Amino acid sequence: LWTPGNIIDDAVSRVQEMVGEDEVLLGLSGGVDSSVVAALLHKAIGKQLTCVFVDNGLLRLHEGDQVMKTFADNMGVRVIRVNAQKRFLDALAGVTDPEAKRKVIGNLFIEVFEEEAAKLKNALWLAQGTIYPDVIESAASTSGSAHLIKSHHNVGGLPSEMRLKLVEPLRELFKDEVRTIGMDLGLPPIMVQRHPFPGPGLGVRILGEVKEEYADILREADNIFIEALLRHDLYHTVSQAFTVFLPIKSVGVTGDGRRYDYVVALRAVETVDFMTARAAQLPWDFLDEVSRTICNSITRISRVTYDISSKPPATIEWE
Ligand code: XMP
Repeated sequence: LWTPGNIIDDAVSRVQEMVGEDEVLLGLSGGVDSSVVAALLHKAIGKQLTCVFVDNGLLRLHEGDQVMKTFADNMGVRVIRVNAQKRFLDALAGVTDPEAKRKVIGNLFIEVFEEEAAKLKNALWLAQGTIYPDVIESAASTSGSAHLIKSHHNVGGLPSEMRLKLVEPLRELFKDEVRTIGMDLGLPPIMVQRHPFPGPGLGVRILGEVKEEYADILREADNIFIEALLRHDLYHTVSQAFTVFLPIKSVGVTGDGRRYDYVVALRAVETVDFMTARAAQLPWDFLDEVSRTICNSITRISRVTYDISSKPPATIEWE
C-alpha cells in the first residue's frame, strides 16, 4: 500500500542498509528536493549526515536564515553554512551575459562545495535530491531541479582521494510524492509547497551585471510581491511568481518632488510543464496594491511593471 509513511519507512531502511556507519554529505539549497532529502536522511542516519548550505548572496529575503532555522535549529540537522556572498559577487563583477553568469555561479558553487567537502574527511557518500523526472529527462531538461542536479552531478571534480558514492533516496518519486513525504517528515508547508527557484537565483533575475545593491533592492520588492500573493491566497493559484530587477532608471513623482530610480517587473505564470506558460491574470486591484507598496516602501524603485508575455515567445525567467 502506498502511503507517505510507507515510502518514508522504506527509504529510511534502504538508506540505513546502504550507508551503514558511514558519513554522508548533502548540498542543501533550500529547494524542495534537497530539503526533503535532508529531512529523510536526518531521520535515517541522524548525525552521520552533514549538510553544506552555500549562501551565494543571490537568495531571497531571509532565505539563508530560514534554512538554518528549519534544519539546524528546529530539527537538529548538522548544517555548515558557507557565507560566500562576497566571493560570488566578486566573481560576477563585470559579467553581463546570462549564460556566462550561469557558468560563473555554477562553477563557483562546485568550487565552494568541494572545499567544504574536502574538510569532511570521513564522508564517503554524497546525497542528492534527484527525483524521477530528473532521471527520465536528465539531459535536455530546463526544469528547476535538473539544473541544480547538473552542478551537483559534477562529482568527478571532487579531489580524487574522495570518491564519493551517490545516495539518491528520491530517485523513484514524482514531485507531488516528494512534497507529501516532506510534509510528513515535518517540514514547514511553505518550504515544501514553494514555487521553483532557479539554481543561479537572483543572478538571472537582475538583468545584466549583478550588484549587491541591486540584489538588496530586488529581495525587498520580491518579498512584498510574494507576501501579498500568500496573504491574498493567490500564491498557489500560479505556478511560479517572482520579481525581476531592471537596471535602468525611470522618472517618478512623490509628494515632495521628482525621483529618478530603478524599475522592477512582476512575473507570475501558469504552466503545467514549464515548457510553455502564460502570464497569470492576477486581479488588477491586487497588482495595484503591490505596485503602490513597492514604490512607497522602496525608495530606489520608481516604477513597477507586470510582464504579460507568454512562453513562447518569451521564457519564464528574463534571462
Ligand atoms: P525558462 O526561463 O527557461 O524557465 O522558461 C523554465 C523553468 O526553469 C527555471 N530555470 C532554471 N532553473 N537553473 C535552474 O535551476 C537555471 O539556470 C534556470 N533557468 C531557468 C525557471 O525558474 C523556470 O521554473
